[in-house]
Amino acid sequence: MKIFIDSADLEEIEKYLNWGLCDGVTTNPTICLKCGVTGGIEGIKRRTIEIAKLIEPRPVSVEVTSEDPEEILNQARDYSKLAENIAVKVTITDREGNSFLPIIQKLVSEGVRVNVTAMTTFNQAIFAAKAIKTGMEANPEKAKTPHFISVFGGRISEEQGVERTFQVLEELRNWFDFHQFKGIEIIVGSVRTPENVEYWSRTGAHILTIPPEVIAKSLLGARTKETVAQFIEDAKKAMKEFES
Ligand code: E4P
Repeated sequence: MKIFIDSADLEEIEKYLNWGLCDGVTTNPTICLKCGVTGGIEGIKRRTIEIAKLIEPRPVSVEVTSEDPEEILNQARDYSKLAENIAVKVTITDREGNSFLPIIQKLVSEGVRVNVTAMTTFNQAIFAAKAIKTGMEANPEKAKTPHFISVFGGRISEEQGVERTFQVLEELRNWFDFHQFKGIEIIVGSVRTPENVEYWSRTGAHILTIPPEVIAKSLLGARTKETVAQFIEDAKKAMKEFES
């Protein structure tokens, strides 16, 4: 299983690269804003290029900011030219529920790497996977893989409980394996707690994208600090005895 860092903070990303925990990065405009990115689309592009360089060849996902189909196509094409390791996040529908699957299929057929996002159901995820596969088959020599499909675990849990998230992801991975879907990876997004990390890591999802603060919390157990402190004190005592 891979871990992506759900952040646009260069220092945090570098830190987790050095910990051996960063297999990629996901961002969205809200995350960029939270991480101090300014300057609108140009600012997002600059930060995306910086992240792409820092983590290459690992992928970084950047999200389109429009729900107009033509604008999405243009913005996605534009973003995908920023670096080799960019995946463009496109939501599964617009806010009215109109399908973006035709856009997704088209972008994939043009050689744009996509991350279909904001999904909370099994059906959305298999439709996204089908559209990506059809796009890849339309132009196999252009296909850049892996593409991604993002299922928002935290948002499913808020409505239907963590068990439901587990079930959706596990069934999705089984469906992928049974039908031998290649070149597409399942991301679990909206990871909110260390418990989410522990639980959803066991679903078979290919990737968990985790915010830095949740990674930091996940490093510690309830008694980690106390145990380490005790070991150090015991070691000091033992060393004194060895020396006497
Ligand atoms: C993942 O790619 C998303 O950026 C993120 O996990 C969304 O999480 P949220 O539900 O906290 O907005």
